[in-house]
Amino acid sequence: MKARASATPVLARESREGPRIARAQGSLVFDEDGREYVDFLAGWCVGNFGWGNKLLVEAAAQYDGPDYVYPGQDWGPWEDLAKALVALAPGKLARCFRATGGSEAVDLALQAAQLHTGRGKFVALEGAYHGNTLATISIGDRESRRQLPNLLRGCQSLKPPLDAGALVRLDRLLRGDDVAAVIMEPVSINLGVLVPDAKFMRELPRLCRRHGTLLIMDEVATGFGRTGSLFACEQFGIQPDMMTIAKAVTGGLGGMGALLATAPVARAMEENGNFYSTYGWHPRSVAVALQTLEFIAANRDALMAQVAQTSAQIREGLAQMPQLQAVQINIAGLAIGIELGDEARAAQLRRKCLREGLLLSAEGGTLLLVPALNIDAATVQRGLDVLARCL
Ligand SMILES: Cc1ncc(COP(=O)(O)O)c(C=O)c1O
Repeated sequence: MKARASATPVLARESREGPRIARAQGSLVFDEDGREYVDFLAGWCVGNFGWGNKLLVEAAAQYDGPDYVYPGQDWGPWEDLAKALVALAPGKLARCFRATGGSEAVDLALQAAQLHTGRGKFVALEGAYHGNTLATISIGDRESRRQLPNLLRGCQSLKPPLDAGALVRLDRLLRGDDVAAVIMEPVSINLGVLVPDAKFMRELPRLCRRHGTLLIMDEVATGFGRTGSLFACEQFGIQPDMMTIAKAVTGGLGGMGALLATAPVARAMEENGNFYSTYGWHPRSVAVALQTLEFIAANRDALMAQVAQTSAQIREGLAQMPQLQAVQINIAGLAIGIELGDEARAAQLRRKCLREGLLLSAEGGTLLLVPALNIDAATVQRGLDVLARCL
């Protein structure tokens, strides 16, 4: 469908720098003028299995169930999906709550933490992003937060690096035994692929437990293989009290989010929480998500091996670029952050790459590469060549 370019845009947009998208296939995106782009963005951790993925497209096309199911009614596939998610999730996560996306899932987690603990405070990483609702902006720490006069009170932030020193700082924040939950991405893609020290992650759950504080792992971006394991918190042996997912669970073919919680936390939420969601787990999205999980369950090892291989290819490719010799590069599977340390330069490079046919993201002063998990080696090389030229 050819969209009409209107002189005065009516739709509010995050940015108008991107190309006008016509179609996408695998790890290539095409604009309305037929220009081709290598996609190192994957819709920002959404298209983990490549665009136009046959399995997922067919699951959507062949869906022949009800158009819609009212949340007060039962629908078998909802239970099937909850079971499949819980089966793949780490630790004692036992129950699921339906949501339309990541922000809603995180919002539910904050609500559940308050209900379970009777406390109101939260700790998140400094500069973190967990969504765009008022509650998720409250725990985040960005410019948008400072413009808003009335957010959740008692939201504190923990400054990286996440090492032994951070444990001391966190202990200080939790000391009053009044923090409902600590929330973080296990590998913070939003902070330029910040990988915590193993010791920090080992002690984190113990520290939280000691203070009666719940631990929420936000896997909205890291989930479904992005960092080289199905969920990033698995790499640290973390068993969270709650986990949030969204984005890649449908590979982009439907909106979806979910909160997974342990039985006691879920009970508090079910008894006293409000989690009605009109479009949470829309039937068509559920059909695709079920197919995604079936595919992952059957191909987990092969998929993770491919992530490791492609990650190594990108690591080697970047290591050979003379302009990056003095630059910190953070790599966790197929989440790659190139720390330029200069926001303007990162934005400028992103625009240059776009002009040259490569899609990637810039988070602050960090260039972010998050390609599809099944991108082929030749396409990776094409993207790296464009990046090298632009650098
Ligand atoms: C870690 C994390 N949590 C939550 C969200 C919010 O998800 P959504 O945009 O689906 O509301 C995002 C979005 O980028 C995210 O990266």
